[in-house]
Amino acid sequence: MHVLLINGSPHKQGCTDAALREVAATLQEAGIETTIFHIGAAPVGGCVGCGGCAKAGKCVFGGPVADVLPLLEKADGVIFGAPVHYATAAGSMLGFMHRLAMSGGTYLRHKPAAVVTSARRAGTTTALEAMEKVPQFFEMPLISSTYWPMVHGGKAEEAALDEEGMQIMRNLGRNMAWMLHCIEAGKAAGIEAPQAESGKRTSFIR
Ligand SMILES: Cc1cc2nc3c(=O)[nH]c(=O)nc-3n(C[C@H](O)[C@H](O)[C@H](O)COP(=O)(O)O)c2cc1C
Repeated sequence: MHVLLINGSPHKQGCTDAALREVAATLQEAGIETTIFHIGAAPVGGCVGCGGCAKAGKCVFGGPVADVLPLLEKADGVIFGAPVHYATAAGSMLGFMHRLAMSGGTYLRHKPAAVVTSARRAGTTTALEAMEKVPQFFEMPLISSTYWPMVHGGKAEEAALDEEGMQIMRNLGRNMAWMLHCIEAGKAAGIEAPQAESGKRTSFIR
């Protein structure tokens, strides 16, 4: 089994990465392979609703949103991490997630997911809530921890000193591993993901 951890910070080896590495180490101890994917240091724009991905099978604007698809396809679970920028999740990560949702939803559906954030001080729960919107849309079981999944610090070394934050990351990793093993055991027992109903689209303008 494999978990993809996506670092939505412009800093490849910053606080978000420190938090994700702690989760990854715990997953590895539980026998689960991990890959950390960095969305890059360049700004990542949001979805423009062009519909091009419906034909191309990936975001036509390319970049990390297209590059991540092969990794996402083989992942059994996904963890989205981003720093707090101006009291919500970093804009590039939200842009990345929105374009990924439009172009790669089939690779997300029903896979257990978690969100993680890092901040110097404030805006963490708003950032987590903003990122949760994508897993919630794609029927992804949201994995939680023993507190809201956040670390505090301005630099990776400071985040590493956030003992409680790191403990929360390890507990998150254990819970993700547990859920993946439960899903695997369920599949072996013949329990598949449910088929969602579709077709209804309420018009609010009558
Ligand atoms: C543009 C920008 C905005 C930020 N806004 C906040 C904020 O609103 N609240 C906060 O606590 N930290 C804020 N920070 C600090 C980062 O959230 C914090 O240093 C974080 O741990 C950095 O994670 P990273 O190293 O993975 O990028 C901001 C940083 C930047 C670059």
